[in-house]
Amino acid sequence: MNLRDRESQYLLHTYKRLPIEIDHADGVYIYGKDGKKYLDFFGGIAVNALGYNNPRVKAAIIGQVERYMHVSNLFYMDVQVELAEAICGISGYPKVFLTNSGTEAIEAAIKIARKWGSTRNKSGLLALSNSFHGRTMGALSLTDRPKYRQGFEPFLPEVDHVGFNNVNELRAKVNDSTAAVFVEFIQGEGGVNVISKEFVKELFSLKRKHDFIVVADEIQGGIYRSGKVFSFEHYGVRPDVVTMAKPLGGGLPLGGVLVDEPLQDVLGYGAHGTTFGGNPVACAAGLATISELSERKIGSHVTEVGKYLTQSLLELRSKFPGFISEVRGLGHMVGVECKIECPEIISELVSKGVLANCTNGNVIRLLPPLVIEREHVDLFVSRLGETVLEHSKVTTK
Ligand SMILES: Cc1ncc(COP(=O)(O)O)c(C=O)c1O
Repeated sequence: MNLRDRESQYLLHTYKRLPIEIDHADGVYIYGKDGKKYLDFFGGIAVNALGYNNPRVKAAIIGQVERYMHVSNLFYMDVQVELAEAICGISGYPKVFLTNSGTEAIEAAIKIARKWGSTRNKSGLLALSNSFHGRTMGALSLTDRPKYRQGFEPFLPEVDHVGFNNVNELRAKVNDSTAAVFVEFIQGEGGVNVISKEFVKELFSLKRKHDFIVVADEIQGGIYRSGKVFSFEHYGVRPDVVTMAKPLGGGLPLGGVLVDEPLQDVLGYGAHGTTFGGNPVACAAGLATISELSERKIGSHVTEVGKYLTQSLLELRSKFPGFISEVRGLGHMVGVECKIECPEIISELVSKGVLANCTNGNVIRLLPPLVIEREHVDLFVSRLGETVLEHSKVTTK
């Protein structure tokens, strides 16, 4: 049996795979076993901020494996504390709880909100329409994508959704029993939708009135992807709780939830925990990743190259207005909304040696490694241009 048949035989059929059998990956390229090279504009779903095979991250992992791989959170681990210091240093938040994944960071945030609310008669949780916060039952209660929710009811009680950027609905749904509002400042899975300044302003003004927690889900948009450490920084606000994951572990499973000072004692000893969260090997990789990203001043690099990417895509849109309806996003988180469903476009890009993703049916989602250069943008945009041109010829025949 070949690899694809064995995969189909032994793994649950939860992932639709791209038709590539990976041999290895290096820099911003993935290499297939068939010898083909692919420019990766999806970065392991926003994980590989430094691209692949980064020597500093690899050395940190090997160094920690040689010391110890797991001892449990019952012990003091220098590498875990160093990572926490680094995260607090770049974020300006005082404390972090470490998890294995994004969805676990969301679960921890839900528990913080409920525990905080339990002494204030507040239990309601709000999230936005079209949001994605993960797939465990708590996180899925917040996630508003029918295709992920269907058949998994009942969800957590007292969870409701507010229309994305719908200020009036927000005003109507928030009240004194609201414990927390969960927000992706740039929705990723939902189609790369950027939250409006007006909505954020109203959210924080309602927070002052009704005293609830704002949770920023920065799992996809955080850690320099938007050009700033967190995407909410573009709005000049400070959420109470911030969830992170994806690039945090440099490719190893690692997430975290940051809490601002007034909430730092909500979860006391024994109130929350995990066997693997904050694993020392993942922490070593995370520390190397954060150090490398900040030393390289990656935020300004992303801002500069991200502008070039958006500009190049806007030029493509002006050539093909009948095909591309909108280009939106911030930094290296960009959505190209097409007038047709886009899975076919993604397959055509793959055959041209370029990787991207389709989300929300008709949005080509780009989450390239943060280290891409203008030459990679040129290559990507020219391949996309060729694909769109071929497609337009076929559809106008
Ligand atoms: C905004 C957001 N929140 C939460 C999650 C869930 O993270 P994970 O897949 O690491 O559990 C994701 C994953 O795509 C995400 O994009």
